[in-house]
Amino acid sequence: MTLRLSSAGESHGPALVAIVTGLPAGLMLDREAIDADLKRRQEGYGRSPRQQIEQDRVEVLAGLRRGRTLGTPLALVVRNNDHKNWTWGMAPWPTDEEPSGKGTKAVTLPRPGHADLAGVLKYGHEDVRDALERASARHTAVHVAAGAVAKALLATIGITVTGSTVDEKALHTNVDEARAERDTVGGVVEVRATGAPPGLGSYATKEDRLDARLAFALMGIQAVKGAALRGSQAHDEIRPDRRRDTNHAGGIEGGISNGEEIVVRAAMKPLPTLMKPLASVDLQTGEPASALVERSDVAAVEALAVVAEAAVAWELAVLAKDKFGGDAVGDFVAAHAAYVERIQWH
Ligand SMILES: Cc1cc2nc3c(=O)[nH]c(=O)nc-3n(C[C@H](O)[C@H](O)[C@H](O)COP(=O)(O)O)c2cc1C
Repeated sequence: MTLRLSSAGESHGPALVAIVTGLPAGLMLDREAIDADLKRRQEGYGRSPRQQIEQDRVEVLAGLRRGRTLGTPLALVVRNNDHKNWTWGMAPWPTDEEPSGKGTKAVTLPRPGHADLAGVLKYGHEDVRDALERASARHTAVHVAAGAVAKALLATIGITVTGSTVDEKALHTNVDEARAERDTVGGVVEVRATGAPPGLGSYATKEDRLDARLAFALMGIQAVKGAALRGSQAHDEIRPDRRRDTNHAGGIEGGISNGEEIVVRAAMKPLPTLMKPLASVDLQTGEPASALVERSDVAAVEALAVVAEAAVAWELAVLAKDKFGGDAVGDFVAAHAAYVERIQWH
């Protein structure tokens, strides 16, 4: 059975939950190891005071007995301590109580660079909080708990996975400077996996490619983009007509198109077939040998532009079809027209 992860949870809701299916039975889990990763996620230079309120701990509601997986769905919970300050504002059900605590007033000021504006337009929310609560990276906590479970499984076959920041010193200096100027910064992380045998992933289909899977996994994390600029320069200010004068975000915020031009770039590595071949091995003899020389492109960057265009068109078409539906093309077009009318996007 394929290992699958689904999660739910708002930033200031009662809890974050994850359900992991497809785990084999008999895997020993270590609660302290999971909690240690949750603690690591909360630490780090530049985090907000929220991290002092939260003390993330994993709870398991199903799938585990005395530390051993049962081979049944594993249900993980990380509670939001901060919810106690939002019990009215983030109550799952209507309540007769007087409004109190945080979240009682609608948020009406979308932050450039966040999911706020695109989120309210897409879902028809009146309170920006209805979009930002899930767009927030708070729920990465329960994904870290699931990652710790994944690491336990990988450890049984000798694979270890470690993430770290690149250039820790420069990062701290950047954070200090940005904080002093009431600004924000990004940075680069590196993840290394040791002990993986040859053979994970496949060239058979796009979906099977290891690099595609890792790109999907990493780009699925909030704020994973290339940006060397400060927050004040990187984000595109919102005009009263909800358009922007700049487009550093490339038309995507919070994983949603924001109405500006969608711009993506992809880097291509140098092609592997060299007319001056690199060192290799002859698989028949086991002896050192020069690699295969075969008729080959020197570069194919222009071809990649066409292939990338097709790939982007495909994904956008899939998403547009998801959003507007329609069995006849007229239905698709009409649903689109009704939507742009609703959000007054002309
Ligand atoms: C671990 C982590 C913590 C984050 N903390 C914050 C934060 O405190 N404030 C903030 O504005 N964005 C924070 N973000 C980034 C936002 O969640 C993200 O920019 C927003 O959801 C929009 O998504 P996008 O940047 O992928 O377009 C954080 C992201 C991660 C991965």
